[in-house]
Amino acid sequence: MTEPSSDEPLIPSAPSSAVEIRDLRFAYGEKQALHDISLDIPARQITAFIGPSGCGKSTLLRCLNRINDRIPGAAVTGGSVHIHGIDIYRADIDLQELRRRVGMVFQKYNPFPKSVYENVVFSLRISGMTKRSELDDAAEAALRSAALWDEVKDRLHRSALGLSGGQQQRLCIARAIANRPDILLMDEPCAALDPIATLKIEELLHDLKRDYTIVIVTHNMSQATRCSDITAFMYLGKLVETGPTLEIFNTPKDPQTLAYVTGSFG
Ligand SMILES: Nc1ncnc2c1ncn2[C@@H]1O[C@H](COP(=O)(O)OP(=O)(O)O)[C@@H](O)[C@H]1O
Ligand SMILES: [Mg+2]
Repeated sequence: MTEPSSDEPLIPSAPSSAVEIRDLRFAYGEKQALHDISLDIPARQITAFIGPSGCGKSTLLRCLNRINDRIPGAAVTGGSVHIHGIDIYRADIDLQELRRRVGMVFQKYNPFPKSVYENVVFSLRISGMTKRSELDDAAEAALRSAALWDEVKDRLHRSALGLSGGQQQRLCIARAIANRPDILLMDEPCAALDPIATLKIEELLHDLKRDYTIVIVTHNMSQATRCSDITAFMYLGKLVETGPTLEIFNTPKDPQTLAYVTGSFG
């Protein structure tokens, strides 16, 4: 993204929108997957996308760092996405920089088959950091932020694949954080984890929102109520309703939202 270059994460002034989605349409070939989505995602809050399987949650999330661009035939067919005021679908957007600023964590934790340490410093090395002490400091800071440091500090140079599932997912979060993103996208980050590992990630999210804007896709409604500030309910590629999480779950305005949050379908 073309912004005055700075190592500091972009810090929005007042409680503002980090992301502004307007009339966004997205299609996989002939299949329209998102219909005229408009949504503001507030900075330094946790926004949850909920809705039944296939309603477009992942597609919408993946529009926010343009990784959908990699799918042949898939394209934004209308509308816009601005992140901190920048139109991310502009032709001159640097996709590598966009994806550094908008980090992503997937459902299936996917550390590289490398050491814990090398996972965290991977992108720092790519961006040219070579000094051992700087890499060490960055690795420790990211692992501490991901609430993983105490568990791995004695095994930094052993394979990441020997960690538990929950630890591997927190390592993936550390790897994203090491890039100093502004926004963290998480697509069902706990779906492959047991309840205790899930709780740890949820606690971590709570700490991370001090520094990051977080968008999480979940089909676990109690997870949405436990961790998100804002909930957006989607159905059949449309955004049905959005608002403070408690309102969406307790006093939704739309009958479809009510049916979903009370478990009548989905
Ligand atoms: N790579 C793809 N190619 C074609 N259609 C896709 C692709 N990914 C998702 N879809 C379709 O787009 C719709 C939304 O999918 P998705 O965003 O994955 O929903 P969710 O995350 O809510 O389960 C679904 O109908 C799905 O089948
Ligand atoms: Mg999905």
